[in-house]
Amino acid sequence: MSQTDFAGRLRLGVNIDHVATLRNARGGAVPDPLRAARMAEAAGADGITAHLREDRRHIRDSDIAALSTGSSLPLNLEMAATPEMQSIALHYRPHAVCLVPERREERTTEGGLEVEGDTVHLSDFIAPLRAAGTRVSLFIAADPAQIEAAARVGAAVVELHTGAYCDFHVDGSLAARDAELARLTAGAAQARALGLEVHAGHGLTYDSVAPIAAIPEIAELNIGHFLIGEAVFVGLDAAIRQMRALMEDARPGV
Ligand code: PXP
Repeated sequence: MSQTDFAGRLRLGVNIDHVATLRNARGGAVPDPLRAARMAEAAGADGITAHLREDRRHIRDSDIAALSTGSSLPLNLEMAATPEMQSIALHYRPHAVCLVPERREERTTEGGLEVEGDTVHLSDFIAPLRAAGTRVSLFIAADPAQIEAAARVGAAVVELHTGAYCDFHVDGSLAARDAELARLTAGAAQARALGLEVHAGHGLTYDSVAPIAAIPEIAELNIGHFLIGEAVFVGLDAAIRQMRALMEDARPGV
């Protein structure tokens, strides 16, 4: 693999948090996130992403246990860099951990992780996870200083936050959207040149995915809320297949 182009197939990680949101609205056992994970696999997803939030508002510890043993797709566990989450990750040893910032009052992960100002803590936090064989990803803005710091603290992967790009895509100026896309494109190239694998995600939809999927250094997209919402209308299988098709169209030859 060259340092500038990701030579493999662009992977799709399906975030199933909002299957759990729906389940928790009634407090019962359905819909079951594990069933969604198995369906995602059948539809061509390459991984499952689940965010175990401090307040357990969607995914619960029991979901992580079920996904760890009941799904054959690699699990990407999103979590805050806290001692509690570190011990959970060391217990389950998921394929990957994606460290995200977390504030109780936010509805979703609003910004990127502050890596540059927290390098000592993050280096110490990441080391045991790496030693346990888990790939550590940092969810960050496409900011040169954050990307450079991510390489320094020992992350294997950066996931670039596409939320602002997606917001501008819906109701911003074209110039603002394109500026954000240029920032993501430059960030992906910088991260790859530093030897980091590059992922991207947050807020992606059928309408906004293609320009991100076309960035050659990006190896994986993680997409959740839109797919679960679309599944209400067309089913999860069809929603995932359509997303995959759009990703593949945007990355010809892969
Ligand atoms: N990647 C990360 C790190 C996230 O925190 C989220 C949201 O949980 C996603 C991807 C998926 O975002 P969305 O649900 O908006 O597709």
